Amino acid sequence: MIEATLVLIKPDGVMRGLIGEIIKRFEQRGLKIAGLKMVRVDEDFAKQHYIEHVDKDFYKSLEEFITSGPVVAMAIEGVDAVELVRKVVGATEPKSALPGTIRGDYAHVSYAYADKKKISIKNLVHASGNKEDAERELNLWFSIEELHSYPNVHELHTM
Ligand code: CDP
Ligand code: MG
Repeated sequence: MIEATLVLIKPDGVMRGLIGEIIKRFEQRGLKIAGLKMVRVDEDFAKQHYIEHVDKDFYKSLEEFITSGPVVAMAIEGVDAVELVRKVVGATEPKSALPGTIRGDYAHVSYAYADKKKISIKNLVHASGNKEDAERELNLWFSIEELHSYPNVHELHTM
């Protein structure tokens, strides 16, 4: 039941000075940060990360967005972490994301607006969509040496 998942603070979150605020949301939920680094992604790496989207209409603008500045990559662990992290992050479309979620508290734009402007949806965070994606993405972003094993207080309280 303990899972690991990948979270990225995308360039908009970094440029807006929201790194600390976003990391705080995961820490306060009791999730463990097992890996953390800042990375500048190139086009080739973007295609590997977003492999399922490469042929889609929005891919070009997504690639421009994700390569436009550094991202903060995190490996996050916890009980049912893949699903829980998606819940903390909120819906893909900021307009639809519920208040209380990261996307619902810090963004508001709709798909329709972004499509009309031919820009990517700037929704602050990436989180792996399911367990298979989480495993693939963690392997892509982190080496074994970059993933740390240590006890956190929340584990002591759920033993
Ligand atoms: O990030 P998430 O898994 O919630 O959504 P996705 O469907 O896997 O799409 C990946 C990313 O592409 C989104 O987070 C948006 O930044 C972007 N996107 C977009 O700009 N326009 C769309 N119509 C769909 C996705
Ligand atoms: Mg996705």
